[in-house]
Amino acid sequence: MRSSGGIHFLIVRDGTGIIQCTMKRGTVDDALFEKTKDLTLESSIEVIGKVVEDKRAPGGYEIRVEDLKVFHRAEEGYPIAKKYHGPDFLLDNRHLWIRSQKMQTILHVRAKFLEAAREWFKMNGYTEFHSPTIITAACEGGATLFPVKYFDREAYLTQSWQLYAEAAIASLGKIYTVAPSFRAEKSRTRRHLTEYWHLEVEVPWCDLNCIMKIQEELLAYVLDVLYDEMSRELTYLGREPDDLRRMKPPYERITYDMAVEILNEEGIRFNWGDDITWTHEKILTKRFDKPFFITHFPKGVKAFYHKPDPKRPEVTLSADLLAPEGYGEITGGGQRIDDAEELIRRIKEENLNPEDYKWYIDLRRYGSVPHSGFGLGVERVIAWICKLDHIRDAIAFPRLINRVYP
Ligand code: 4AD
Ligand code: MG
Repeated sequence: MRSSGGIHFLIVRDGTGIIQCTMKRGTVDDALFEKTKDLTLESSIEVIGKVVEDKRAPGGYEIRVEDLKVFHRAEEGYPIAKKYHGPDFLLDNRHLWIRSQKMQTILHVRAKFLEAAREWFKMNGYTEFHSPTIITAACEGGATLFPVKYFDREAYLTQSWQLYAEAAIASLGKIYTVAPSFRAEKSRTRRHLTEYWHLEVEVPWCDLNCIMKIQEELLAYVLDVLYDEMSRELTYLGREPDDLRRMKPPYERITYDMAVEILNEEGIRFNWGDDITWTHEKILTKRFDKPFFITHFPKGVKAFYHKPDPKRPEVTLSADLLAPEGYGEITGGGQRIDDAEELIRRIKEENLNPEDYKWYIDLRRYGSVPHSGFGLGVERVIAWICKLDHIRDAIAFPRLINRVYP
């Protein structure tokens, strides 16, 4: 609140946003006008008044207050002031910082993104399916598993819904989920969370090309909805809404081999078979102004379940989608091995124990079909769409290598 010339200007927030409320001396009870002077930042109030258009007000409208009731007068000294606060301070005070206009706006865009995605799934005949969070067999390799003490044995937090999804397609057909995934990421980067929300899709009778097309159609729809309904919010965050139009599919596809060539051209020493890390991705994204797929990764850099290309078995029928502007990988997926013998061979090659994957191998013994899927990191996509410089702001309470509070 600020006051000038016999008017109090109050900025009032609710779940939909903020609005300026003006209280003029003489139009309300004198005692109320005086008492309002003492209102503290973040107090909870009820306002009665008239909504009027006013070009000078933020948002173009204001409420002319006729009555005001204080429900809770906040304590003095709200920790977040107008001055600059460092990221650690804001993370310590995250429970309050999520009230900021920036966080409120991002969380609205995030909710709209998921709402639009669910709409698309509904229109296209997908069923939502849920898998367990406590699991015993790694999906994406042991290095990032979080152990859980499960009574007298060890279990883990899930890295992906995928293995269970592959069981469920035989029951439900095309399925999706939106659920937390966990990665004990030792990497302290701007794009890794230890707990993130994973939007995953699994589709029977679908090959690599089919699953890339599904990602394009889903993103095309979601970007359209955000353009139509969130332009004001995106502009506030520094993202030009027209960018979303420009970044619509179809997306270019390059093979891993071509990516290696580009990196070598850029003077990076990169050997065929190495994993494409974030540093490499940042260089690759400079060549594109829209998201693009990298396909056919070598077996060695992908998890055991990826189907080797029958025409060239040292590479897999896999695809990552990378966002431009340095954001990099936003989805990973591809076609799965659907033959039991081939799967067992790959499990052994990766030094995993086929016993741990017995139920998963069963799926190839009783009515196997070609199938594919992908996983999209919700915070990665929100960071890109909202043009954030760190993934932590794409989620309300980020879990990072050094942060589990609040
Ligand atoms: O590439 P990933 O590891 O693939 C899988 O988990 C597959 N099982 C998905 C599937 O086919 N159903 O992870 C998928 C996506 C990545 O592209 C990235 O966007 C996101 O999940 N992701 C993370 N996001 C934030 N923090 C992390 N530590 C992430 N690790 C992966
Ligand atoms: Mg990946």
